[in-house]
Amino acid sequence: MQVSITVNGQPRTDEVEPRLLLAHYLREVRGLTATNIGCDTTSCGACTVVVDGLTVKSCTVLAVQTDGGQVTTLEGLAGPDGELHPVQRAFREEHGLQCGFCTPGMVMAAIGVLADNPDPSDREVREGLEGNLCRCTGYHNIVRAVQAAAKAGPAAGQVPQAQEVQA
Ligand code: FES
Ligand code: FES
Repeated sequence: MQVSITVNGQPRTDEVEPRLLLAHYLREVRGLTATNIGCDTTSCGACTVVVDGLTVKSCTVLAVQTDGGQVTTLEGLAGPDGELHPVQRAFREEHGLQCGFCTPGMVMAAIGVLADNPDPSDREVREGLEGNLCRCTGYHNIVRAVQAAAKAGPAAGQVPQAQEVQA
């Protein structure tokens, strides 16, 4: 069936199988491979993206469920001039990654945490990210990164608006 999904500001219509997961749609149909697939069973959070303002595990959602919607992946966060999103910048500055496999999902989930709570405590960050696993167990610096990003203000809890995202 046909779906029309705007991903990182780019609208497109594709013919997809009704059973196609959003994670596979993003990677295989749209060619956006920052969204990692770690488990395919809703356990690890590596596939987290933002759909219409809410963070979701894209291995839990069918592509057809986002028909007509707006999806933001890690590729859609940086500004047109390459300026990093506040959460990306904080992950870099606070060394919030080791191998980096969990990082795209962590960054997207962190944006959701900050959208709900712009000034989270250590415990609130840990609770907010509990659906995201880091195989390198680098949680300490991830928590520090989220709290550092909070200092950037409301932008840390927002994804770019569709019209602001460049090709
Ligand atoms: S791949 Fe989606 S939660 Fe692990
Ligand atoms: S940095 Fe390796 S899985 Fe998190």
